[in-house]
Amino acid sequence: MLNNKKFIITGLANKFSIASGIAKSMAAHGAELLFLYQNERFLKKIKPIADELGAELLIECDVSSDKSIDRAFKEIGSKWENIDGLVHSIGFAPSDQLEGDFTEVTTREGFQIAHDISSYSFTALAKASLPLLNKNAALLTLTYLGSIQSLPNYNVMGLAKASLEANTRFLAASLGKRGIRVNAISAGPIKTLAASGVKDFRSMLTEYADRAPLGRTVTTEEVGNVAAFLCSDLASGITGEITYVDAGFNTSAMSTIPKTE
Ligand SMILES: NC(=O)c1ccc[n+]([C@@H]2O[C@H](COP(=O)([O-])OP(=O)(O)OC[C@H]3O[C@@H](n4cnc5c(N)ncnc54)[C@H](O)[C@@H]3O)[C@@H](O)[C@H]2O)c1
Repeated sequence: MLNNKKFIITGLANKFSIASGIAKSMAAHGAELLFLYQNERFLKKIKPIADELGAELLIECDVSSDKSIDRAFKEIGSKWENIDGLVHSIGFAPSDQLEGDFTEVTTREGFQIAHDISSYSFTALAKASLPLLNKNAALLTLTYLGSIQSLPNYNVMGLAKASLEANTRFLAASLGKRGIRVNAISAGPIKTLAASGVKDFRSMLTEYADRAPLGRTVTTEEVGNVAAFLCSDLASGITGEITYVDAGFNTSAMSTIPKTE
């Protein structure tokens, strides 16, 4: 599905990352991968994953800094003449924003950081990769249901995800004439480093498994398989879309009829 295609993968922190499931599936389908990592702290955990997938290029890129993005893409351009796409699997909000009542805990600074790292960075990476993108290239990001429905503790990340989803549609409109597609996957909750920053995340997992039509949560591999499809030419007619990989949770308002007294 992805033979002879080259992709940049961001957001790999460790083997539990959604980016890990995506990278595995894309590599299994023939893609050549390059990893961008946030800082040196992550290198020890991600090097073995990159080795396993035959990816030799690992480049530091902190998306909160234009300089870091410029430096990273200069280096990418010196190694690869062109690319077939980029996976944006990055999200962040300060932990004090992800615990407690939305109105009480949300600050201007927390709001700005969440939107900058979790949404603007997708635009920034799209811009930076544009000179390298082949015709028919694909950009992909990861979002969550908190963009359209409120839930406890997810707070300002929900707003940032709403922005990210709009970002997906505007990028799709902007880049479509060049043949570049831009999509998002809305994944169900998965226990990862970022997810553990949301208070009471464990109870979210239980609630999902109880209510989702499939009666369980999803795996990073399942998200990865959909990512591989959306980045492949099999999805050539799909752009600006949010595809749910959540065991059907978003389609169900109630899983059982509450017992009457
Ligand atoms: N885990 C879930 O339940 C879930 C559900 C839906 C969507 N998502 C989204 O999936 C994406 C990946 O998250 P994950 O759950 O795999 O967690 P993760 O912690 O494994 O990955 C988050 C990544 O963001 C990167 N990052 C944060 N700030 C950065 C910066 N300044 N520069 C560069 N990279 C930075 C981290 O290095 C990390 O690799 C996020 O956008 C997250 O919101 C997660």
